[in-house]
Amino acid sequence: MFVEQKRRSIIKTISWRLWATITTIALVFLFVGEVKIALYIGAVEVVLKMILYFAHERIWNKIKFGKKEVQPAVYWFTGFSGSGKSTLSENFVKILKKKGLRVEHLDGDSVRDIFPKTGFSKEERNRHIKRVGFLASKLEKNGVFVIASFISPYQETRDFVRNLCDNFVEVHVSTPIEVCEKRDVKGLYKKARNGEITQFTGIDHPYEIPNNPEITIDTTHMKVEDSVNEVLKYFNSIK
Ligand code: ADX
Repeated sequence: MFVEQKRRSIIKTISWRLWATITTIALVFLFVGEVKIALYIGAVEVVLKMILYFAHERIWNKIKFGKKEVQPAVYWFTGFSGSGKSTLSENFVKILKKKGLRVEHLDGDSVRDIFPKTGFSKEERNRHIKRVGFLASKLEKNGVFVIASFISPYQETRDFVRNLCDNFVEVHVSTPIEVCEKRDVKGLYKKARNGEITQFTGIDHPYEIPNNPEITIDTTHMKVEDSVNEVLKYFNSIK
């Protein structure tokens, strides 16, 4: 995503030239034993090779060969609470960052921490997802990879976000509700069963299984590494 500006090329040209010319002067002196000749050659070389280096850099900047253009995308992880969305997406984010890409992670829990009054009725969830989806699409249009992990239980709303984005990848984390409930990492399933919380997805609130997701991952018997590799496989297949 970075462009080499002319002034950077100029500074690099000078710094490289100083290194190289000092080496040349030292070598000539070593072989010939004449300070004057060594300095003459150094003086001619410093100017000539600076010009050549600068031209060489600018020419290579114009050549596309060996450069791979990566289209930003929105990877949308959907599934029950405790299905593995956050873990998977966190690990995927790390990999994309290591590749030097600009990445933003939007996660259900952390977004709701900022907007704590966002409720869980169908209307509230849909409004919430549409807002987050809009933000994701804006980031994508500005060259940022967006990794979003939200239960996002309704197909229509996920499709709404899909239509806003240029490259939308729906990742269904399809771990069955029984497994998620058994894991119960946050103790919320227990609370939902006790009636302490209501409108809990999979207990007393619906989840619409994605119609046509790009990727489906059931994390029940999978190591995190293997699950992330599934997403990575898809990422690498897009050229
Ligand atoms: S979404 O349905 O609007 O997409 P979102 O992903 O933002 O949900 O938030 C889900 C998180 O909120 C869950 O991981 C869980 O920690 C917490 N939560 C609290 N109450 C509920 C509830 N009634 N239903 C689902 N998740 C809940």
